[in-house]
Amino acid sequence: MRVLLPLTALAALTACTGKDAVDSTPPDVAWYGEVEDTVIEKCATCHQPGGLGPGDWSTYETAAAGAEAIKVYVENGAMPLAAADPECRSYHGAERMHLTDEETQRIIDWADAGAPAGNPAHSNAPEIPYLHLDDTDTTLEMPLEHTLEVDEGDNEYFCMILDNPFTETRYVTGIDVEVGNREVVHHMLLAVDMNGNAGVGYGTDGTQTAFRCQDPILESDWLLLHAWTPGMEPVEFPDGVGLQVNPGDQLVLQMHYYADHDLPAQTDHSAYKLRTTDHVNTVAEMAAVGPDDFRIPAGADSYSDSESLENDFGRMTLYGAFPHMHLLGSYFSSSIRKMGGSEECLVRGEYDFDHQMTYMFDVPVQFNRRDRLVVECTWNNAADAPNQYNDPPQDIVWGEGSNAEMCYMLFYYSMGQ
Ligand code: HEC
Repeated sequence: MRVLLPLTALAALTACTGKDAVDSTPPDVAWYGEVEDTVIEKCATCHQPGGLGPGDWSTYETAAAGAEAIKVYVENGAMPLAAADPECRSYHGAERMHLTDEETQRIIDWADAGAPAGNPAHSNAPEIPYLHLDDTDTTLEMPLEHTLEVDEGDNEYFCMILDNPFTETRYVTGIDVEVGNREVVHHMLLAVDMNGNAGVGYGTDGTQTAFRCQDPILESDWLLLHAWTPGMEPVEFPDGVGLQVNPGDQLVLQMHYYADHDLPAQTDHSAYKLRTTDHVNTVAEMAAVGPDDFRIPAGADSYSDSESLENDFGRMTLYGAFPHMHLLGSYFSSSIRKMGGSEECLVRGEYDFDHQMTYMFDVPVQFNRRDRLVVECTWNNAADAPNQYNDPPQDIVWGEGSNAEMCYMLFYYSMGQ
């Protein structure tokens, strides 16, 4: 989906940055002990077999073979993929998602030195970060392998009622997914239908367990438990906090597929994996805040809209935020505007459709009565925007498909603290 400049173009860009020609001997930086730990911890999470990115850079041989490309992408800031700014707020995994200037320079120096191995005895290889929960106890699987039926706009929203395996109230403390077909899955949503009649809002008689579900994207009686989008890592709540699921709750899975309608239909079979427990101190829920009446002018390279919500409900605790836009999204920011006038940053950063994340705060945040929660999105709808799909660009309004835009900040919160 993301279109990066070809390597040659990036190389030309770097050539123009006018490196000093005087000092032509690059410092001698070796893989073992100097670069390996950074590349494994911050790149091989995705660049390993089965990972989100191409190649496998967890070993010297494979990384050295890609050294020139690694240098170019790192030097231009194209990698690692954009992630929220940890200076706004510290969140789980932040240290893995950013390179320091020093690390960037060391990778460049290593590539410039011809990607030498150095002495394997100096190896300081960390484990490749494992980005799945291995202590889940419940699998909620699609009841069927689905063959996609995308519309003219290449979208399909397909919903299924899942078997609820619980015989007593359980609390979900960790959430992971097994995406069946990463090429086509643009989101997964897990929700509870509070009235147990999922599908009726989409015109079914309420007995179907699988149905198309679009316009609106959610039935009004659905309580969201989780949203997954490409790049998302597992969600874990702080100790003692979890989402509540009761026996008999009707669990609904919504799949958003995006695939070229002119190509042969693909199939998908995805699943949710949950870690649950029988007791928590605090029950968390999910809520979304964001504007939905915007028009992004054709050609605008930086257009923003925002929404704010005053807290009329009482003291709340926020555990994490998930910024969501579609392909033209370029920047997000959210903060709490306090009654006294000060502002507290919640989450902000460059937006990358392929690296959407629920940023779980290292320390939960208090959102007090009369404070305001502000959410702002910025889009790039210029002809040369990285993910522009209209030629020429068109005005874009709010919509559910990947060829319209959204601006949502989904929060995990609880009442009280
Ligand atoms: C969160 C996942 C993720 C992380 C972390 C990540 N990458 Fe990538 N990388 C990707 C994806 C996905 C692509 C495919 C290009 C695209 O569509 O953006 C890619 C492409 C690349 C490419 C182009 C390779 C090719 O064969 O086309 C290079 C080079 C690269 N990444 C370097 C790095 C380096 C160096 C790091 C660590 C500093 C890193 N990446 C961290 C996901 C990641």
